[in-house]
Amino acid sequence: MSNLKADHPIGIFDSGVGGLTVAKTVVDNLPNESMIYFGDTKHLPYGDKSVQAIQSYVREIADFLLERKVKLILIACNSASAAAYEMLQDYIGTRALLVNVVDPVVRFICENYAGKCVGLIGTKLTIQSGIYSKKISELACQIDLRAQATPLLVPIIEEGLFEHELIDVALTEYLSNPMLQGIDALVLGCTHYPVIKKNIENFYQGRVKIIDAGKIVAEEVKAMLIAQNLTSSISPNRQFYVSDYTEGFVKGARLFFGEEVVPFTN
Ligand code: DGL
Repeated sequence: MSNLKADHPIGIFDSGVGGLTVAKTVVDNLPNESMIYFGDTKHLPYGDKSVQAIQSYVREIADFLLERKVKLILIACNSASAAAYEMLQDYIGTRALLVNVVDPVVRFICENYAGKCVGLIGTKLTIQSGIYSKKISELACQIDLRAQATPLLVPIIEEGLFEHELIDVALTEYLSNPMLQGIDALVLGCTHYPVIKKNIENFYQGRVKIIDAGKIVAEEVKAMLIAQNLTSSISPNRQFYVSDYTEGFVKGARLFFGEEVVPFTN
């Protein structure tokens, strides 16, 4: 890792606007860090694609980010973390540090919810991959995990309809599944879902703790940069790229990132 430079940017990617929910927390926690964000809007949604397809998109994105000399790549997408984390680790080797959004959250729930019942919502790919239960087993922690795929949510959010009643209709249908009754906490296992966290909180009326990856993952990135002596001290520069320009991305980015985001088209 000796060729990595502290003042080089962090690269963050997702299929679209969702990863911005993590990117925002990262830049709030690490205000001196420069960032290059890549939203792969051309291939959205990742959650319905094959592992092979996602791995090939992810390799291309990694090349794009590595050409821009990122010191760390954050996979701000659960579906890509499930389908391509190990592949990407092998592919990038020591060219950059690598963080995914699943491992830090699994450690968090094992530390805080052992012996409890935890719900998980995510894309079809994430839920079918069983990635959360595999990693929970690897840590040998006792979590009763109840996983539910919620595939309609990402398209609605990416269409910019996150304030539309469609969201509540879909959420009520999904969250009323008897399997999810009695959970102590619900993991938002897709980085798009913090955009609709309020709707989810309204559904549960405070009965269930809602866990999103943002802060947990930002802490992981910070700890990794500190451990490697790679924290930046320059004034930061932030760039946003998309593989296809969409109104939904611009609208979502404005609302959720809290500032005007003008994406370059790759
Ligand atoms: N935000 C992503 C995730 O965390 C991808 C959603 C999608 O493109 O289907 O899974």
